[in-house]
Amino acid sequence: MKVQNISKAKRISNNMDAINEKRSNVSRGAFATALGAVVATLGSAVGLGNIWKFPYVTGENGGAAFLIVYVICTLLVGLPVMISEIAMGRKARANAITTMQRVSEKNNQPWWLIGAVGALAAFVILAFYTEVAGWVYAYVLKSLGGGVLSSDPAVTAKFFTDLVTSPAQSLLWQWIVLVVISVIIILGVSKGIERATKFMIPSLFVLVLVVAIRSLTLDSGATSQGLAFLFKPDFSKITAEAVLVAMGLAFFKLSVGMGTMITYGSYWQDDQNVPVKTTIIMFSDLLVSLLAGLAIFPAVYAFGFEPTAGPSLLFITIPAVFASMPLGQVFMLLFFLLTAFAATGAMLSLIEVPVAFLNERFNLSRAKATILTSILLAVIGSTAALSSSTLANFRPFRKTMFDLFDFLSSNIMLPVGGLFIAIFVGWVWGRKNVEAELSNHGMLKNQTVISGFLFITRFITPVLVVLVLLRGLGVF
Ligand code: PHE
Repeated sequence: MKVQNISKAKRISNNMDAINEKRSNVSRGAFATALGAVVATLGSAVGLGNIWKFPYVTGENGGAAFLIVYVICTLLVGLPVMISEIAMGRKARANAITTMQRVSEKNNQPWWLIGAVGALAAFVILAFYTEVAGWVYAYVLKSLGGGVLSSDPAVTAKFFTDLVTSPAQSLLWQWIVLVVISVIIILGVSKGIERATKFMIPSLFVLVLVVAIRSLTLDSGATSQGLAFLFKPDFSKITAEAVLVAMGLAFFKLSVGMGTMITYGSYWQDDQNVPVKTTIIMFSDLLVSLLAGLAIFPAVYAFGFEPTAGPSLLFITIPAVFASMPLGQVFMLLFFLLTAFAATGAMLSLIEVPVAFLNERFNLSRAKATILTSILLAVIGSTAALSSSTLANFRPFRKTMFDLFDFLSSNIMLPVGGLFIAIFVGWVWGRKNVEAELSNHGMLKNQTVISGFLFITRFITPVLVVLVLLRGLGVF
């Protein structure tokens, strides 16, 4: 018995050696400063989710009541999963798949699958995300030339339709986006991601503030209509599907449930206070969403539009709104520029998931890993890019490829990933590990926070996700 134990101990220690060796062989990047880590992570959270998705789904689902459900999901589901991911990534110092392998070493269950499905989700999200980002880049260029400016939504609609139904333009803009993010990613974690987001995120805050103030000072009647829409709840608008959409948005917004935060967490410093910093990131992200809402809804009402336009709200309604105001071209340029910054920061974190994996697992250089991933993305993404033209009639599950990628990722892959992350951290990783990571090995005296966190990840997050998923998908 004793001999057996010793040989088992030896086996484990040999395994550990192998892992440590592997660890030291790969020279890993990291964020250079504590502030840089927070800003880059915020750069992942803030994205098209805030400026394109949040306003249009809030518009479609009745405004304030939806906003409340969204905030509840963010607090009880999004934030706990975010803390879990950052903590595990920082502990294991590896890409998402290897991290899940390392943290679950002792218990022989395939928890690495969370990382693998996450890497897959990165492709699914980027497939449509790069396309929307492509439209945004196109609008930046066009608003420089004054091209999209017309107060007649029929004209802006035609402009948008011409763009999305042209296979050549759609593909070209998607490729331009892929090239831009690849270049930044190849520059590295600190020199690329950290540097780019440190410039983009503060600029974005200023720009969204400027546009929100402009929108709020257009017309007092419209301002109060816009504010009422965003802040005066009507709960009759809340259906099971709306709750599923709100939860999906909470995952998507905080970039959780698929390994992005595991990967970024692996670049965080050991002495950062994870619960506090992630909470700051969550609130800042919410603030950007609200500011985007304040930039959009009052202006939409001021010029007699409806907030329920759907995905094209940003591309058809908004240009018409800007064209109707003094100095519209300038504000439109600022607005699309800030959206381009937001989208770019988020895409960096998405593509980093497979890049870090290929880099560490197969010893591919960052450049090779990035180019390989981008080529794959260009292929998969083309099905989304062409979904309004060549592939318009290809509709698996009665959705275009674009809609399918969007639905699958936000409403299924991220929630299921987040569910298993919460279950793993709450029930399998155990109190000892959680305490060590969240208190920085006893340096922080935050027992109450840790107990609260464990209670929520164990009992609330998983139950909520399962209920919302099953009900939203119509299972009961
Ligand atoms: N959070 C990003 C946004 O709001 C999207 C994203 C999702 C990024 C998942 C990384 C991972 O646009």
